Amino acid sequence: MQFFLDSTDLEEIKRLNSLGIIDGLTTNPSLIYKSKTPFKLLIKKLCDEILGPVSVETVAENSKQMIKEGIKLSKMAKNIVVKLPMTWEGLKACRELSMIDIKINITLCFSTSQALLAAKAGATYVSPFIGRLDDENIDGIELIRQIKKIYNNYSYSTKILAASIRTKNHVTQSALAGADVATIPPKVFSTLISHNQTDRGLEIFNSDWAKSGQKIL
Ligand code: G3P
Repeated sequence: MQFFLDSTDLEEIKRLNSLGIIDGLTTNPSLIYKSKTPFKLLIKKLCDEILGPVSVETVAENSKQMIKEGIKLSKMAKNIVVKLPMTWEGLKACRELSMIDIKINITLCFSTSQALLAAKAGATYVSPFIGRLDDENIDGIELIRQIKKIYNNYSYSTKILAASIRTKNHVTQSALAGADVATIPPKVFSTLISHNQTDRGLEIFNSDWAKSGQKIL
């Protein structure tokens, strides 16, 4: 499974990227607004830090403008992935941009029929929002499972990018369901490693080693 961060917080991104296991980044207009940073400067900083795919979303409503925005975004850095909304206009823009080799992430996916459309339109990634489905008491992980089955049935190359991840269980369940990528907010990412038995076990090892009086170096 690939791990993307879902953030525009450069300090947090740098901290976690230093682990060497971050494969990409996703942003959206709300995260960009939260950053309070001039757009072009922010995208340059993010794309300089994260060498893998960086998703940046168009904001136009019609496909003609989305295509113009998508081409402009793709020229900002070689690792830009253009994020388009799950609308008919977004799918039309996806079709056009994917034909000129611009990578596309179709976002705001909430159903299998939408995921089918994204694959048909040539999307590189489709982003099912599992947390927002859970908010409506709909099983977001089941959606991942069904998309995976449909994509396997037809050997679609579109990658499933589990998004709107709220807990470490979302990450593990998405992996079990076969998502290709999980895009994880830094605060959730930091919880992936924590387990009280690990902490307790390390405490005991350190204490017994200290009692042994031995040294390695
Ligand atoms: O990438 C999409 C993600 O940022 C949405 O997350 O928690 O706002 O549903 P959330």
